[in-house]
Amino acid sequence: MKKVKSPADSAVESRYLVMPNHANPYGTVFGGVTVAWIDMVGSMAAQRHCGKEVVTAAIDSLNFREPIYIGEQIVLKAAVNYVGKTSMEVEVQVFRENTETGRSSLATTAYLTYVALDKKKMPASAGRLLPQTADEKRRYSQAELRVKARNDLRKKIRDCS
Ligand SMILES: CC(C)(COP(=O)(O)OP(=O)(O)OC[C@H]1O[C@@H](n2cnc3c(N)ncnc32)[C@H](O)[C@@H]1OP(=O)(O)O)[C@@H](O)C(=O)NCCC(=O)NCCS
Repeated sequence: MKKVKSPADSAVESRYLVMPNHANPYGTVFGGVTVAWIDMVGSMAAQRHCGKEVVTAAIDSLNFREPIYIGEQIVLKAAVNYVGKTSMEVEVQVFRENTETGRSSLATTAYLTYVALDKKKMPASAGRLLPQTADEKRRYSQAELRVKARNDLRKKIRDCS
């Protein structure tokens, strides 16, 4: 396995057809179903990056920008933005696609933090990430800021509890 990977090396893309059993009573996808799909592709990208078992530590900045309707196809794209010591920030974008009109738009976005585990289920090295393209480098720099902000917030909350 490669020692240093780019985000493209572990990126995951997955497609689903939205069925009635995915929907809420109003005919659009239930948010929890979207989150399950997001976590599935996000964890696969993290696993492909580190080559280890991973657990979801946090999901944040989950934005439901547009409803997704029964009969539409959705395309989920997951990529590792940033890697710390044992944690990885993965960005997932969910596009809804109307096959009749061919229109595709960004419906949901999320950032997820996964932690690599060793055989004893303890946090373990997540390996190294080397962004290559301008877009990967931009995502890396922005993720670095978010990781710092998350860590600072968790520390502040811990300190005052
Ligand atoms: C995630 C988990 C392994 C972290 O364990 P821990 O003892 O807190 O480990 P650490 O404090 O050493 O943190 C490990 C890494 O995770 C990061 N992390 C931990 N909790 C986090 C959170 N809530 N948000 C963002 N990052 C987090 C730490 O910053 C650290 O990153 P780094 O090694 O890259 O610097 C542990 O909390 C756990 O098992 N949680 C349950 C996971 C789960 O059941 N998920 C749902 C099903 S998959």
